[in-house]
Amino acid sequence: MSDGLRASVENSWRELGDIDRALDRGEITEHGWYAAVLAVVEPAYLGADNPQAQSGHSGNPARWRQARRLLVDALPGNCDVLDVGCANAHLMESLVDWAAEDGLVVEPYGVEISIPLADLARRRQPRWSHRIWTANVLDWQPPRQFDVVRTGLDYVPPPRRADLVAHLLEHVVATGGRLVVGVFNEESGRDILEREVRSWGYQIAGRASRAHRHPALSYKAFWIDAARR
Ligand SMILES: C[S@@+](CC[C@H](N)C(=O)[O-])C[C@H]1O[C@@H](n2cnc3c(N)ncnc32)[C@H](O)[C@@H]1O
Repeated sequence: MSDGLRASVENSWRELGDIDRALDRGEITEHGWYAAVLAVVEPAYLGADNPQAQSGHSGNPARWRQARRLLVDALPGNCDVLDVGCANAHLMESLVDWAAEDGLVVEPYGVEISIPLADLARRRQPRWSHRIWTANVLDWQPPRQFDVVRTGLDYVPPPRRADLVAHLLEHVVATGGRLVVGVFNEESGRDILEREVRSWGYQIAGRASRAHRHPALSYKAFWIDAARR
């Protein structure tokens, strides 16, 4: 992979690679991993002056749409959607609007590990304040379950990513619901993350992708349908 391509994939999350390596070498604990990630995320998001950047995205509204609207492809119909790592709630807002363009009604919910970011989300969207919880999703026991749960796998330390998928499917996704992983940037012809999740024993029920501004990359998401229990 060229340096330019690597930079586009990793973007501001490069610093997070150092945190993963520190955990791997035993220099920090898992608790320290979350603290170190938040020490990167909170100042960047809370110091931003636009809603995309307060959600960790460096582009303008058009690029935000290109990078995130593909999640509408994952919606099975009218549904409630939990955004894991909802940051300032901008994806919650955007999903409602984009789904409506396709004639769908989305009821958005969020969970966020950062206390100040969850507070920001509630301040920006007071009508949803009771739907935004503050928790580490990995050990969160939700008060209800959701038709669709969207997550990133990089919200937990690398050795806990399979545990995150298992926890979400067992405790957070409703019976017959859907777990959506993404959006993430990856080389277009290579489904590395999807292959890893399949290696944990899950079937991928569907996927969506869109062109990235770097010609070798795509914005991607894929999903797993929860068994009917
Ligand atoms: C890149 S932002 C995602 C914003 C928006 N949901 C999106 O997909 O565009 C990631 C957010 O996840 C939150 N987060 C990271 N780890 C988490 C965890 N274990 N539990 C809950 N939230 C987490 C971060 O604080 C950050 O606000």
